[in-house]
Amino acid sequence: MNVLILHGPNLNLLGEREPSIYGKMTLPQLNARMRSEARRLKMTVRIFQRNGEGQLIDLLHQYRKWADGVVFNPGAYTHYSYALRDAVAAIEIPTVEVHLSDIRSREKWRRVSVIEPACVAQIAGKGAGSYIDALRLLKGAGGGSRTHMVRSTERF
Ligand code: DQA
Repeated sequence: MNVLILHGPNLNLLGEREPSIYGKMTLPQLNARMRSEARRLKMTVRIFQRNGEGQLIDLLHQYRKWADGVVFNPGAYTHYSYALRDAVAAIEIPTVEVHLSDIRSREKWRRVSVIEPACVAQIAGKGAGSYIDALRLLKGAGGGSRTHMVRSTERF
């Protein structure tokens, strides 16, 4: 099973960026955890971080024939990017939206995700665990068998 993992804007600064909210783990450390969990789950992953909305859309398009699932942290684009939402809807690949922090217990503007309705699930507030849970969810759902995915906006 092939999984595309996308980190959105400002996540390259993980570890130094507002550590009281996002923790001290750096992006390379987070990616190393993802790779080892993926190995355990017998998944092949490709991981990218991009700051630009268009760059993220391009990667979703580029990997649409390869990926059986997507783990996506859209960063602040979560809250207003209809272009990213449309890209997720367009590729028709089960996508799990993830957040390190619990966006529903933060500022009011962060509580809304315009991307979530195009995703099979949203997992937030568990730090690196949000990403790990997303991989497990995709694995459990059988990856490519899109019809077997259950839409869930429940947080874990
Ligand atoms: C975030 C939450 C977003 O609101 C924020 O803009 C981020 C990170 C998270 O992982 O908690 O950049 O997506």
